[in-house]
Amino acid sequence: MSDNIPATASTDPASVITGASILLDQVSKRYPGQAKAAVDGLTMEIPAGKIVMLVGPSGCGKTTTLKMINRLIEPTEGRIVLDGDDVTGINGDDLRRRIGYVIQAGGLFPHMTVATNIAIVPKMLGWSKDRVAARVDELLELVSLDPAQYRDRFPRELSGGQQQRVGVARALAADPPVLLMDEPFGAVDPITRVRLQDELISIQKELQKTIVCVTHDFDEAVKLGDWIAIFTEGAQLVQYDTPERILAEPANEFVENFIGAGAGLKQLTLTRVNEVELQSAVTASPGDLSSDVLSRLDQQGHDHAVIIDGRNRPLQWLSRRQLARLERIGSTRDPRLPVVGERATLNDALDIMLVSSVGAALVTGGRDSFRGVVDVETIMVAMSQAHARARTSHAEGKPVGINTGALTALDGPHDGTAPLRSADRGAGGE
Ligand SMILES: Nc1ncnc2c1ncn2[C@@H]1O[C@H](COP(=O)(O)OP(=O)(O)O)[C@@H](O)[C@H]1O
Ligand SMILES: [Mg+2]
Repeated sequence: MSDNIPATASTDPASVITGASILLDQVSKRYPGQAKAAVDGLTMEIPAGKIVMLVGPSGCGKTTTLKMINRLIEPTEGRIVLDGDDVTGINGDDLRRRIGYVIQAGGLFPHMTVATNIAIVPKMLGWSKDRVAARVDELLELVSLDPAQYRDRFPRELSGGQQQRVGVARALAADPPVLLMDEPFGAVDPITRVRLQDELISIQKELQKTIVCVTHDFDEAVKLGDWIAIFTEGAQLVQYDTPERILAEPANEFVENFIGAGAGLKQLTLTRVNEVELQSAVTASPGDLSSDVLSRLDQQGHDHAVIIDGRNRPLQWLSRRQLARLERIGSTRDPRLPVVGERATLNDALDIMLVSSVGAALVTGGRDSFRGVVDVETIMVAMSQAHARARTSHAEGKPVGINTGALTALDGPHDGTAPLRSADRGAGGE
């Protein structure tokens, strides 16, 4: 479905939602021999096409909740409703074909190639060989892996981040409306994690799936989530709200502690690179004469040129000094290029700038195409604006509350803009 959408479609807010809504209706899980329920009467609605992050301390029931949605774990009580259909009783294997599942390090089968791993569900669905092969390549492109280079590799021949990308491609193979992710970026280094997060955001912009993602990292939840559900033990919902409102109005002391120190600074995590004004740059291509590039720098009063490849992806960022040493521009990609996705947060951008010597970063959009340059000064200005905004605006629609007993909206009609939440018995909230 995404084949015809150009990389720039990410600016279109009206792109089609392909996700399905999910309703957990009074769902409980009691493991044999456990005194307390791992998930205790949880009711929450996950709106179609949104990313909902489940956060909370270890052992609070996040993974159990997630696995009950695709019935890797059978609920002891309650119903799971997918786009209005009660799927609690249907065959679990059929259900799992409609729900992609991503775990840490991708969970790839080590003895299968990348292509075979991705093709598992399409093959089970009886797709033709050609269709499967085309789909594998399309998905590899989507997760920014060159199909020719990677489709025949084995998982051990990939970095952790690349394995994770393949895991996402595999989960998306049959175009399921729902994607479940359990701490997907927990096993990769911080820089790779930021890239994978940015990629997930840009994939989601294109595909508009319903994504339920478990994390123990509150900053990750703020960055990725349209909504964040904060759990305590027994998957009791303490707060289910937008990142903005959780930061501005934590429901209780537990949430405050969970958010941690510096909630004010975390507002920075709410501003994304594409919300600030980018600087333009002089661009050039491999093969260009350095002297031509230098004279264009002179004309436009710039000190650096961004070298882009045939698909507008940045390869190098060269200073006048570096250009002066070259006759023609080369085509290699500088692995240390300070690049940040346009959906990255200002926090991420700052991190990346701080390790680059330039005090600025290259911004890329869909499928890594070059958009412009963001510098430290721009971020400083945006920071103070974000702080000012955070103090004044909490006016959007309120979340809809419910009791675990019945799905009754307390705050007017449920229009899909606010999540249902269980009135957490005694755990806080409104
Ligand atoms: N297979 C199992 N058998 C018994 N208890 C389990 C099992 N899986 C999880 N639990 C328990 O259920 C609770 C919730 O676990 P889990 O959903 O994995 O939490 P989280 O993902 O938030 O860390 C924990 O107390 C855990 O020990
Ligand atoms: Mg877990």
